[in-house]
Amino acid sequence: MYKHVILSLILCGLTLGSYTNLQAQTQLYHEPSRPQFHFSPPAHWMNDPNGMVYYEGEYHLFYQYYPNDIVWGPMHWAHAVSKDLVYWKNLPIALYPDSLGYIFSGSAIVDWKNTSGFGKNGKAPLIAMFTHHNPEVEKKGGIDVENQSIAYSNDNGRTWTKYAGNPVIPNPGIRDFRDTKVFWHEKTKQWIVVLAAQKEVQFYSSPDLKHWKYLSSFGADQGSHSGVWECPDIFPLAVPGSKTEKWVLLVSLGTGATNGGSGTQYFVGDFDGKGFTNNNSADKVMWIDYGRDNYAGVTWFNAPDKQRIFLGWMSNWQYATKVPTSTWRSANTLPRTFSLQSTPQGLRLKTLPVANLTKLRSSSYSLPAQKLSASLDLSQKSGFKPSQLELDLEVLLPEGQKVTWGLELRNSKGEKYRIGLDGANQQFFSDRKNAGNSDFSTDFAQKIHLAPRENQDRRVKMHLFFDVSSVELFADDGSVVLTDLFFPAQPFDTISLFCEGGSVEVTKAQLWKLKGIWK
Ligand code: FRU
Repeated sequence: MYKHVILSLILCGLTLGSYTNLQAQTQLYHEPSRPQFHFSPPAHWMNDPNGMVYYEGEYHLFYQYYPNDIVWGPMHWAHAVSKDLVYWKNLPIALYPDSLGYIFSGSAIVDWKNTSGFGKNGKAPLIAMFTHHNPEVEKKGGIDVENQSIAYSNDNGRTWTKYAGNPVIPNPGIRDFRDTKVFWHEKTKQWIVVLAAQKEVQFYSSPDLKHWKYLSSFGADQGSHSGVWECPDIFPLAVPGSKTEKWVLLVSLGTGATNGGSGTQYFVGDFDGKGFTNNNSADKVMWIDYGRDNYAGVTWFNAPDKQRIFLGWMSNWQYATKVPTSTWRSANTLPRTFSLQSTPQGLRLKTLPVANLTKLRSSSYSLPAQKLSASLDLSQKSGFKPSQLELDLEVLLPEGQKVTWGLELRNSKGEKYRIGLDGANQQFFSDRKNAGNSDFSTDFAQKIHLAPRENQDRRVKMHLFFDVSSVELFADDGSVVLTDLFFPAQPFDTISLFCEGGSVEVTKAQLWKLKGIWK
């Protein structure tokens, strides 16, 4: 705790500009295991991304934050902005807990037509809609712990005023009732909010963001129910090759995701301004990410060019409060764009890293096309270490496809991390079992994480980002995604391609050293 008090003083000094200890500035963001091109809070605890809205050239990112420790505590909304989703500027905390409770997850929108009446001098207000979680009611064992509230800003999110009439959606008698994602539904010309209500999502509508009417519920008998439902999001995406749209509903699950712990499932279907219908069978479960470290993610409101941009919390409730970091805890995933693709099984989500991330590229290396039947040291060839690296790989599998190939990261302590494709089983895998520190949680590294391949093409593509303690894999043009953390005792310093059980033709292996975003 003492350490945190000191750190708070340093940070406070830095923010106020009255303390210019350069050494403190250099250390901040450069602690062991700290990601260098992902967003992470300057210090202390972070979980879900919240209130993501694009307005007047800025991407706003709010997030669940506890400013006094590196474990979860009374929740605030902290704030950062970016012009490009790559470089971030930290701003003061936006929302503090109050008499109605902690500030849990939620969203933000631009009220273009000033339906709320909170606008000033002809300028549209930003409205945040979030969950008030009341610890007093919780302590007494009450049911109505969670209620939905709003706040508004007339100065581009710099300061916020909570609405005097909060809560705007009082608890209807459901213990878990939270995580509001609000959007404008043009066809029915009304605001819609989707929120998680224990084992389902509920939809409400409003003309002015203050008065809400219950519309419908979805999901009690749909998808996975291995954990409490949290952090829903719903948005339309274009159906490829047609002029129509389908709606994608994201629902995060606290426990029981495909490779263990927290994860996010999705549904594809229709939304008519009243309710959602699933186009797949009720028992079909689809995951946005097969790694263990992408949770509670949602998308930006009003992103330019009709893009649907997603950001997740790069951790897992199974061990989030225990991961071996010192002054801060948790980072976000890289921002990603969603689109739909047609597959023989139906419409599926396709996820790609946002285009602006190419700004991070510095030197590059391209391996000549060649046959690979053993291990090939890419660090030796390129001179690049794996800690801040992007790779674009394409290989041709042999007929029959029964080889295992991928990447291996190593350090001089003998620790290694492996990611690749098991051709015989047509599964991508991520193996952090021997990748360093894992004794903080028995759940962290007990098994290999698997992701079924969506197609059977002999050509396999893997696009990867490594950032000190994380890996993000976008395989086969974004059909399969996998996000995982690892904590080597010493940074990995070599990266090799490997192939076992036969050979593959490497047709492309492009590497880029990536710049850090923190000075
Ligand atoms: C998801 C979650 C949300 C809740 C928030 C509290 O990670 O449990 O359901 O609003 O975290 O910090």
